Amino acid sequence: MKNILFVASESVPFIKTGGLADVVGSLPKCFDKSKYDVRVVLPKYMCMKDKFKDELEYVTHFYMNLGWRNQYVGVMKTEYDGITYYFIDNEYYFSGDKPYGEIYYDMEKFAYFSRAALSILPVIDFKPDIIHCHDWQTGLIPVYLKGPFKDSDFYCNIKSIMTIHNLKFQGVWGMQQVKDISGLADSYFTHDKLGYYEAANLLKGGITYADYVTTVSDTYAEEIKTPFYGENLDGLMCARSGSLYGIVNGIDYDEYNPETDKFIIKNYTTKSVKEDKVKNKLALQKELGLEENADKFMIGLVSRLTDQKGLDLINCVMDEICDEDVQFVILGTGEAQYENMFRHYAWKYGERVSANMFYSEELSHKIYASCDAFLMPSLFEPCGLSQLMSLRYGTVPIVRETGGLKDTVEPYNEYESKGTGFSFANYNAHEMLDTIRYAKNVYYNEKEAWNGIIERGMQTDFSWTTSAKKYEELYDKLLK
Ligand code: ADP
Ligand code: GLC
Repeated sequence: MKNILFVASESVPFIKTGGLADVVGSLPKCFDKSKYDVRVVLPKYMCMKDKFKDELEYVTHFYMNLGWRNQYVGVMKTEYDGITYYFIDNEYYFSGDKPYGEIYYDMEKFAYFSRAALSILPVIDFKPDIIHCHDWQTGLIPVYLKGPFKDSDFYCNIKSIMTIHNLKFQGVWGMQQVKDISGLADSYFTHDKLGYYEAANLLKGGITYADYVTTVSDTYAEEIKTPFYGENLDGLMCARSGSLYGIVNGIDYDEYNPETDKFIIKNYTTKSVKEDKVKNKLALQKELGLEENADKFMIGLVSRLTDQKGLDLINCVMDEICDEDVQFVILGTGEAQYENMFRHYAWKYGERVSANMFYSEELSHKIYASCDAFLMPSLFEPCGLSQLMSLRYGTVPIVRETGGLKDTVEPYNEYESKGTGFSFANYNAHEMLDTIRYAKNVYYNEKEAWNGIIERGMQTDFSWTTSAKKYEELYDKLLK
């Protein structure tokens, strides 16, 4: 039996701000249980739903040094869907109405979390063979393992993997402050380690010290070795390319299943999609106050509203996108400029545009099930899960060819009747607009071809089956 410990800052169903939570909440249960004991460590955020907080069972508590500080570490535990989750409890760090806030505060919070995740192991009596770390919040773990913890019998053989879900977020703060909160010696802060210009960089530490580094698609694994996508770490990514692997994300096929989804009005399968999917569209039009019209080409977008997601392209040609033949349904939260932009267009186009600037799992499922197409013109996209959800629900993705979008959406080829969506190469608003128009034309004028795209999309398999195997192979290789 191999013991694997996931450490991450978010996971469904407990807490979610983006795709990281989907991955951490769905991947662990997909490993072969006879070979891998996979457990997860998360922060116990005060903003977690009461339902989950109330179910946690107290395990133990102790005090831990963090630099000159001595901090309380509570350990709680629960089992969900066959997986054991440990929660680190400390109300000084994990209160607040959302998981992330100001960076200087988050730096100390996650330095604490990383050290605590290691420190609880002897007391919970779980000795991992591999600690699988996710994103910058856990970047100090590989550093601690190869540094201050390496002389202990308990920790000396534990390996680590650092998975990058988004290279844009690195956890960067003043070097002096990071020395102070991490308790690491000066020698860790040279430029080949955590040092980053005048500052210190936690993700850089993780990437440097982890035994393997992975990211969430093949294309992104290549892209981040170049200056455009490398977020100033392209040199390091090249240096580590011998230990860098791209493994594409899957999604939870039970959670996202048009046949059983409890959020949608009419369930459907690949067989009944042609007749039944549209019933969801009519219901959503009614719910959102759009013109109730089964034929209207309905485009959906569910997203964090940041520049990563290509919203500037949409802003540039929104008037052209929203012609009389189109309805556009947006669900998202994020930067005020984008929220206001969509609110403005909803006001301008009334029955054609619906802007929902909030977070709702229920509405997101309804959008995946109801729309004809799903727009994702990202500037960069490590993997992207929304396009996978769309494929699963027979909603045709329109994407830019970058990162995981390129790896998961096969562009429609009208000559060979192939493809599962539409894509464009350059970060250019009119290229996107042309692609939307092309899709719209196929939708209105080539119904059979359109239905073929839907069917092929629904038949592709982006459950975790294949990718969980790839992680298993990687674990085995690392432990050989
Ligand atoms: P990222 O992790 O970069 O945000 P992904 O496509 O990997 O992008 O994952 C986004 C996840 O967050 C999807 O599950 C998507 O449905 C969900 N999501 C994003 N915004 C919202 C929202 N406003 N309401 C509900 N779900 C949302
Ligand atoms: C990040 C990326 C997204 C990816 C998700 C899960 O948030 O932006 O592309 O799908 O992590 O790996």
